[in-house]
Amino acid sequence: MKVLGIESTCDETACALVCDGREILSNVVSSQINLHEQYGGVVPELACRRHIDVILPVLNECLKQAEVKKEEIDLIAVANGPGLIGALLIGLNTAKALALGLGKPLVGVNHVEAHLYAALMSRPEPVQFPCLGVVLSGGHTTLLKIETLGRYTLISETVDDAIGEAFDKAAKILDLPYPGGPRIEALAKEGNPLRYPLKPGRVKGQPLHFSFSGLKTGVLYAARGQNGQAVQEMRAQDKADLAASFQRVALKDIFDKTVAAAELTGCHTLVFGGGVTHNRALRALFETESPHLQCLWPGPGLSLDNGAMIAGLGYHKFLENGAASLDLDAITRIPF
Ligand code: KG4
Ligand code: ZN
Repeated sequence: MKVLGIESTCDETACALVCDGREILSNVVSSQINLHEQYGGVVPELACRRHIDVILPVLNECLKQAEVKKEEIDLIAVANGPGLIGALLIGLNTAKALALGLGKPLVGVNHVEAHLYAALMSRPEPVQFPCLGVVLSGGHTTLLKIETLGRYTLISETVDDAIGEAFDKAAKILDLPYPGGPRIEALAKEGNPLRYPLKPGRVKGQPLHFSFSGLKTGVLYAARGQNGQAVQEMRAQDKADLAASFQRVALKDIFDKTVAAAELTGCHTLVFGGGVTHNRALRALFETESPHLQCLWPGPGLSLDNGAMIAGLGYHKFLENGAASLDLDAITRIPF
C-alpha cells in the first residue's frame, strides 16, 4: 500500500511516500530555518505563508523521487495535530483536496505519536511491547508507556518549557542563531561541562515530571555574571563552558528520569522520538550509561519533523480504524 504522508505542524513542510508503513520511497523536507532565523524563533504567520508557497512543489518533488504518479497513491495520511493552527490547516486542506480529487482515503495522524513511530519504522524487525516512549522535541518532553502501537499510558511530561525549547532559549541567551539545539551541541564540544553549577528542574511531588524554565534562568544569570554584563561581552570560552554545562545538566535530567520511569514500568526498551534525538551527546549518554536498556532511535532523516513518520503511522491507523471523513479537524493540542 503506497501511503503519502503530509507534515506541516510547525516550520517544516514535508511530504513522503512510504510503502506498507515501513519502506520509504521518498522523504522530502523543506525547512523554514532561514525564514525564522532573523526573529530568533518561529513566527506562526510567516510559517503559514511559506507552507502555502512550498507545499505543492514539495509534493511534486516527493512523487518524482518516488517515481510514483498521483493516481497510484493508495492512502493520504496527514498530521492533523498538535501544532500551530494555521500551519496545520495548510497540510490538512492539501490532504483533503487530494483525497477528494483522487478519490482516495484520508487518515489523520498525531504528530507526537508519529515521532515515536519513526524509531519503530527504522528497525528491520518488529519490537517487543511494552516499551517506554521518550518524546524529546521542540514542543514536547513526554515519557509514556507504549502498551502496543496506539495504546499509551502517560508517565510524565514537562510542566513548562519542552527540552528543545530549552535548548533554543539557552541558545538565544548565548546570542546563537535559531534553532538553538544544534548550535548548543556544537559549542558544547569546545566547553567544560563542569564549569557552571547549574541545577536540573524538580517538580514538587512529581519526581518524574520535567521543568526546564529554572535551568534556562540559571543560564541567563550565569551569562550575565556578577556584573550583569551583556552576553556579547562574554569570552568565547565562557560561552562554550556555559553551553556545555547547560547541555550536561539538561541531558542528565532526561537520562535520570527516563531510567527511573523504565524501572517503574518494567520496560527494557526505550523508543526515542523528536528533534532533540538528533543530539549525539544524548545518544552517547544512553548508549554508555544504560547498557541494560535497549535504545531505539529514529533513523537518518526521521528525527526532525518529516512526512515519512506520518505516512508510516498513517498506514497502521488506516488498517485499524479505516478512513477519516473529510470533516477531519486540525487540533492544536492533543493530550495523551
Ligand atoms: O521534533 P522537532 O523537529 O519539532 C517539533 O515537533 O517540535 O524538534 C525541533 C527541536 C528544536 O527545538 C531544536 O532546537 C531541537 O529539536 N534540536 C536539537 C538538536 N537538533 C534539533 N536539540 C538538541 N540538539 C540537537 N542536535
Ligand atoms: Zn515534531
